Amino acid sequence: MVQKVTVIGQGYVGLPLAIAIAESGISVIGVDINPKRIETLNAGISPIEDLPDSILKKVINSGLYKATIDFEEAASTDVILVCVPTPLTSEHTPDLDFLTQAIKGFSKYIKEDSLIIIESTIEPGTTRNIIKPLIDEDVRKTKYHLAFSPERIDPKNTNWSVTNTPKLVSGLTKEACNLATEFYSKFVNNVIACESLEVAETAKLLENSFRLVNISFINEISIFCQKLGIDVNTVISAAATKPYGFMPFYPSIGVGGHCIPVDPIYLANKARQVGAPTRFIDLADQINQEMPGYFVGRAEEKLGGLKAKKVLVVGVSYKPNVADVRETPVEALISGLKKKGAQVLWHDDLVKEWNSEKSVILSNDFDLAIIATPHDYLDLKKLGNVPILNTRGSI
Ligand SMILES: NC(=O)c1ccc[n+]([C@@H]2O[C@H](COP(=O)([O-])OP(=O)(O)OC[C@H]3O[C@@H](n4cnc5c(N)ncnc54)[C@H](O)[C@@H]3O)[C@@H](O)[C@H]2O)c1
Repeated sequence: MVQKVTVIGQGYVGLPLAIAIAESGISVIGVDINPKRIETLNAGISPIEDLPDSILKKVINSGLYKATIDFEEAASTDVILVCVPTPLTSEHTPDLDFLTQAIKGFSKYIKEDSLIIIESTIEPGTTRNIIKPLIDEDVRKTKYHLAFSPERIDPKNTNWSVTNTPKLVSGLTKEACNLATEFYSKFVNNVIACESLEVAETAKLLENSFRLVNISFINEISIFCQKLGIDVNTVISAAATKPYGFMPFYPSIGVGGHCIPVDPIYLANKARQVGAPTRFIDLADQINQEMPGYFVGRAEEKLGGLKAKKVLVVGVSYKPNVADVRETPVEALISGLKKKGAQVLWHDDLVKEWNSEKSVILSNDFDLAIIATPHDYLDLKKLGNVPILNTRGSI
């Protein structure tokens, strides 16, 4: 019987998960190494767009949620969920430092029969071959259960939440898989057991690699449509009338965030180790990285050179309506424009401050405005008759 849960990592994944568990009536401790975040959370101030302060305050006031930096609190809980970042190193390879530090943070406090579930995205074999041995260094006689369940949260998606998004689970043993299924079934509508840890680990990488490949493909098609002088979005709408065998993806300046540009590299890394080719991923990654440069070229063409031109970049987060700038392709766009001699300013009322610069207001005082990330709140009329380059279309 699960009475108390610890969620390690209170970010885009761990916080909504912790709150969904608390809302189901289970007591939750949110652990994070960032003291400022802990302070904000305990004050009932939500750091992420999807979670209103009112819901956070409600679970705090009902005694079902509290945040702490103290890993020892995990010692009193039945389930420990790990939701820490799994980014890339500067050499573009998997960086497991946050994950291994988190495991080391709580493993000495594991109590008898507790269930440990990894939610961070990892390559196949990590739970079995890296995480289990790490836990075992600190756990001598205590029996514990180890599971992996990939998180699928899509920030700002109002249709799909923690509760109604189907959840994959897997366990080191059948018993661990059953316990994880039983646990998630308390607050997730549809829980699907996978036959091994490696199946669930790979499924998550497949989902996000599928997105990278298809987004890069549509971006190539968008470049093709631009050369033809036709609007790629009307081509996609026409193709999407086919009731089967087609799934629309839409053009952009490239993918960003903590998942789509990162997870396929985890898959490619593992594929290299086992001698399997991942040419689709490698090419999609390359196309994705070239997209900002393509739009620098389009801006240059539009203005007949960028030297001393005043360019406004509109929207700098990695996708519309979020303030997350991790891996945003807009960073490469801005540095590419600057390299060509442009004076670049940016506007984004969700991000406000970024790379020691502040968002400027939308006005007509520019030679060109590049719509990089079209947030819903934007009122482009404020740009007056400034020429616009839209990265979400081909004309
Ligand atoms: N962001 C998404 O949309 C998304 C979706 C699905 C899966 N994921 C995966 O979930 C994992 C977490 O991603 P995120 O977006 O929530 O990251 P995040 O950066 O928003 O949050 C991670 C939190 O973990 C904390 N942290 C770091 N190291 C820690 C440690 N050793 N102990 C305790 N806390 C620690 C950080 O301070 C931060 O608050 C990643 O593996 C990611 O690939 C993310």
